[in-house]
Amino acid sequence: MVISRLERIWLYIGSAMLAIFLIVLIADAVVMGATPPSGMTTVDPATVLKSGQFQTPRAYQTGPNAWMVHVAAFQFGFLPNPIRVPAGAKVTFMVASADVVHGFEIVDTDVNTMVIPGYVSQVTHTFNHKGNYLILCNEYCGSGHHLMSDTLEVY
Ligand code: CUA
Repeated sequence: MVISRLERIWLYIGSAMLAIFLIVLIADAVVMGATPPSGMTTVDPATVLKSGQFQTPRAYQTGPNAWMVHVAAFQFGFLPNPIRVPAGAKVTFMVASADVVHGFEIVDTDVNTMVIPGYVSQVTHTFNHKGNYLILCNEYCGSGHHLMSDTLEVY
């Protein structure tokens, strides 16, 4: 089989790129410690609304300027509704699904996470401006997906 010079050059380039990608991946995992998320909080979707923190989802103060919000996501809504937190506080959202995959997006902020059944999604944000924020589910979750929203009131 005859391989032309140009083809051979491109084979070398392709092989070199593959080798570089592999080295970067391995270095990232071994040296930098980048691995898939582990030790995530898990929760049984069947009991999300029946026991524990998501049975009575609410916003509460955990420190001088820190708040925690447990949010239950389900077909087709969120609880609590509305969610009320003070402006300027560091707010940590813990979101769990009681059924299927949902999204938790606070419009016009960088809060945007998937809510996967079985796992508690955690995201922290500080809201510096008072006002109402729209919370949307941005993962298609069934016939009422377009109705699934909540309001965040920052006071
Ligand atoms: Cu929940 Cu779409």
